[in-house]
Amino acid sequence: MKLVQKPFEMSALAACWRGQGLKIALVPTMGWFHEGHLALMRRARQSADRVVVSLFVNPIQFGPGEDLAAYPRDLQRDSELAAGVGVDVLYAPSVTDMYPTGFQTSIRVAELSKGLCGAGRPGHFDGVCTVVMKLLQQTQPHLAVFGEKDFQQLAVIRRMVHDLDLPVEIVSHPIVRETSGLAMSSRNSYLTEEEKEQALCLYRAILFAQAKVTGAVQPLSAEEMCSEIEKMIRQVPGCVVDYVEIVDADNLERCETVNENSRLIMAIKVHERVRLIDNARLCVV
Ligand code: PAF
Repeated sequence: MKLVQKPFEMSALAACWRGQGLKIALVPTMGWFHEGHLALMRRARQSADRVVVSLFVNPIQFGPGEDLAAYPRDLQRDSELAAGVGVDVLYAPSVTDMYPTGFQTSIRVAELSKGLCGAGRPGHFDGVCTVVMKLLQQTQPHLAVFGEKDFQQLAVIRRMVHDLDLPVEIVSHPIVRETSGLAMSSRNSYLTEEEKEQALCLYRAILFAQAKVTGAVQPLSAEEMCSEIEKMIRQVPGCVVDYVEIVDADNLERCETVNENSRLIMAIKVHERVRLIDNARLCVV
């Protein structure tokens, strides 16, 4: 596996591969790899001749007081893990190369970025879109693979790609969970064992909602289900609800009743330090 750090070098390599007719896949990441990231890389490997994984902790998607400085970083560890699943290039540009003095462009997907995580993290999705656009330009992929854990991010990026006619296929990959059910996240490394146990309220909420939907004989009120889930989470010490919503999976608008395209989507803060998100499809049978 090759480590590339300069954007001009990455672009030249991508142009060369394209010239040879090779299919390129990009997996954008912020590093500190876990099984969830490795699953995205394996998915990319299945569909492309060359797999690029970008590793860049993107400062412009973090708000004031968020965990930019604390975000876990270990290039050596991540290189070994990526090489182990057959990645061709680990692309790890510097902040100054990505955002040189004078940088002033931003991409905003106006409506989809407003609610859910966007409400509590103003500007977050503008930062995500801007960096993803740059990474797509630099790596010229035929496909880019994103995890469903960041469900709103996935919807926002799909919209950007559609609206800006970007010639790339966005491929999504299901959430990878620990055996306990906790969705894998680099931020789980901030949690103690006890806090991980408390954070399982997210997974329990999903199981609760799925069981309700499976047993339902008439359409369920989304609002009632969300308030039951909020009540469950509030009972867990240290866990504070940011939001619990049931939304349409495509436009992220609130559902009145749970239907076959509904997605339960949640964010909580654990012990005021760690913000966790999770989501699941609610299958109506
Ligand atoms: O999901 C992430 O890790 C980041 O938001 C992304 C897509 C790599 C952009 O920085």
